[in-house]
Amino acid sequence: MSGDGACHRRAVLRAAGLAVTGPLLLAGCSTDQQREPAGSGPGPPLPATEDLMREHGLLNRILVIYDEVGRRLGADQPVPAGPLHQAAQIVLRFVHEHHEHLEEQYVFAPLQGTDREITRLTEVLATQHSRGELITVSVASRTSGALSAADRQALAGELAAFARMYLPHESREDTVVFPRLRDALGAAAFAALSEQFAQLEDERFGAHGFAEVVDQVADIEKTLGIADLAQFTA
Ligand SMILES: [Fe+2]
Ligand SMILES: [Fe+2]
Repeated sequence: MSGDGACHRRAVLRAAGLAVTGPLLLAGCSTDQQREPAGSGPGPPLPATEDLMREHGLLNRILVIYDEVGRRLGADQPVPAGPLHQAAQIVLRFVHEHHEHLEEQYVFAPLQGTDREITRLTEVLATQHSRGELITVSVASRTSGALSAADRQALAGELAAFARMYLPHESREDTVVFPRLRDALGAAAFAALSEQFAQLEDERFGAHGFAEVVDQVADIEKTLGIADLAQFTA
């Protein structure tokens, strides 16, 4: 994290009325850094919900990869195990262990109990996280070496089941769950959460972690010959 970025984040936490302690102490932030006019620093972090929706975009690109692999399996064409294994590892590390952890701890938890529909919905979404992770672990395991005929058959079913679950899953989160978060938390707590998401992502993946994961997905797309957006034009 840059010094400017750290000072900006401290300022956001102060604005949200949260205690700023330990490594977040203001020592080292100049007065100018604390003011940090728009356009002169790294800018505010993405709103927490936009951050999560950006991660959905990454997952959707992997669903396109899964769709292409599923198409090849269905057509009895060769499928390279390596790129599919890499895709499953990204889903495991970035989606299940990071994104879904944030959703369950910081989005679903404060919304549960606000009304019956959202409580039921978040329960189903959390169940789907668990099922999704089981599928991903299986896909990663099957693709750790050469694919047997049995692996190919099982993979076709697993990839289709994963995509069938995650398209409605993400859609409900984007259109029903996330829009309620800002009102449920209030503006100051929502801003603090946005800051916390940025910090957690930095700690786990580095300052450019998201862009690097997008690059890894783009490389898998190239390997499979699905990197050119124009090929998807109807
Ligand atoms: Fe989710
Ligand atoms: Fe999600």
